[in-house]
Amino acid sequence: MARTIPISLVVNGRHVDAELEPRRTLADFLRNTLRLTGTHLGCEHGVCGACNVLVDGEVVRSCLMLAVQADGHAVVTVEGISPASGLGALQQSFKAHHALQCGFCTPGFITTITAFLEENPSPTRDEAREAVSGNLCRCTGYVNIVSAVERAAELRREDES
Ligand code: FES
Ligand code: FES
Repeated sequence: MARTIPISLVVNGRHVDAELEPRRTLADFLRNTLRLTGTHLGCEHGVCGACNVLVDGEVVRSCLMLAVQADGHAVVTVEGISPASGLGALQQSFKAHHALQCGFCTPGFITTITAFLEENPSPTRDEAREAVSGNLCRCTGYVNIVSAVERAAELRREDES
């Protein structure tokens, strides 16, 4: 029988204990064990960003991180970013600016931009473009996504004022 390792972490604000094979990726753990299927798997080798989640507030490719490495840390997936009802400012902005088509890449963009706006609440358009440059979208193009980042930043500032 395969060796397993106990881990204890916080996922979307909830404490989780699990016993895992050490080779299990964080993405597989989130999707298959916790059924948090908002985290998508595209390339599975660190290129596309569809699997991005936040670990202690930092953007991480969950296809490249082992679940056991998340032991003792706080993970936030796209499900944890969404409000209990309705859409958050960033999601509203994506909708308003037509920043998605098939939506496969969108959870990775949402997690990436969430962390970015925490660090840079008033980005320039070039900074917003740079922030999403590690996420691949095959159908929308980036103009509308960058516009959505700008609008989300405005909404966040309005909320805080
Ligand atoms: Fe992880 Fe593409 S699935 S970067
Ligand atoms: Fe389809 Fe981005 S909306 S890949």
